[in-house]
Amino acid sequence: MMNFVNLLIAQQIPMFPDAEKHPEGAPFWFPPRAAAFAGDVDFLYSAIFWICTVFFIGIVGAMCYLCVKYRRRPGVGPQPSPSHNTVLELAWSILPSILLVWMFWEGARGYYETQQIPDDAEKIVVTASQFSWEFTYPDGDKSTELHLVEGRPVRLVMESRDVLHSMYVAAFRQKKDIVPGRYTDLYFLPTRVGKYRLACAEYCGEGHSRMRTLCQVHPDDQTRKDKTIWIKAKYMPWKNGARTFNMNCAGCHGIKDDTKTGPPLNQKWGEMETLTDGTQVKVDETYVRESLLTPDAKIVANFSNQMLSFKGKLNDQDILELIAFLEYLKSGGDPAAAGEVEGYVDPAAVGSGEATTPVAGAEPAK
Ligand code: CUA
Repeated sequence: MMNFVNLLIAQQIPMFPDAEKHPEGAPFWFPPRAAAFAGDVDFLYSAIFWICTVFFIGIVGAMCYLCVKYRRRPGVGPQPSPSHNTVLELAWSILPSILLVWMFWEGARGYYETQQIPDDAEKIVVTASQFSWEFTYPDGDKSTELHLVEGRPVRLVMESRDVLHSMYVAAFRQKKDIVPGRYTDLYFLPTRVGKYRLACAEYCGEGHSRMRTLCQVHPDDQTRKDKTIWIKAKYMPWKNGARTFNMNCAGCHGIKDDTKTGPPLNQKWGEMETLTDGTQVKVDETYVRESLLTPDAKIVANFSNQMLSFKGKLNDQDILELIAFLEYLKSGGDPAAAGEVEGYVDPAAVGSGEATTPVAGAEPAK
């Protein structure tokens, strides 16, 4: 226990919100509020808490009062009691129904708002494993603590290397499960500079309680750059993705609007894709992952099922880098720029016998 307290002190994470440090602080038993929506969450929590309190006191109070009032007394026989009271029955059916519908409505509205992810949200990949966290930023750099910028919306794309975990930052009032074999995403807008606790909120093994780290909100991008201990990436993720694409996908998928065995992939990211059965699906992380691992699950209209699964051939990192490459192409990035990467062969040249030999020792630009 002392170790834990020392750790909190060392990380300057307040165990309880400090009114001085958190002037816009939440009610006294809540952690500080450091993200948009936190006020709404606290309001709904408090409202439900007080509604329950009032009903609990009212019901238990009435029960105690009636027990005493109608207790058995010597010489007094059982009284006949009315079997029915329409007004009372309507009252205790309709009033709680209205309150329940209101609670549902407020909860659903709040949830819907957290699902409206702005396009400029910074995408940070969260990799959870027993019993640690890893965060990968858009430029490929990684950290073991989560570092954010105040006022910049964040979309976490979360994956697990082993079992079920859950991402929880109490100060953001955000929690979501991280499920092995699929991506889940979580959006929030950090609104206050500070250091907060990030913890796993799903029992994931004997080290579960150690699975926590620091979440720090910096005032601006430069401060974040300077203050964070980075695990530097050698290449931008899309460049690694370009190389993986070149080795595995370029034979069947064009990136210049050219239709090969499979559909061209240069302008697909984030768009709606029409499938053979007429339904539409959004080309996002989940769709791309599924298409790589179980290609026959969804077939694009006007194409046939010819792709083989890449299960066991591409790992989680390869898949995320391929996704980064698709994002890069969609944003108008020039695939030729990937030529600076060692071992890169221009996908357009594959199959035409013009494949360029990788230049050994070429200085890669990030
Ligand atoms: Cu991971 Cu608990």
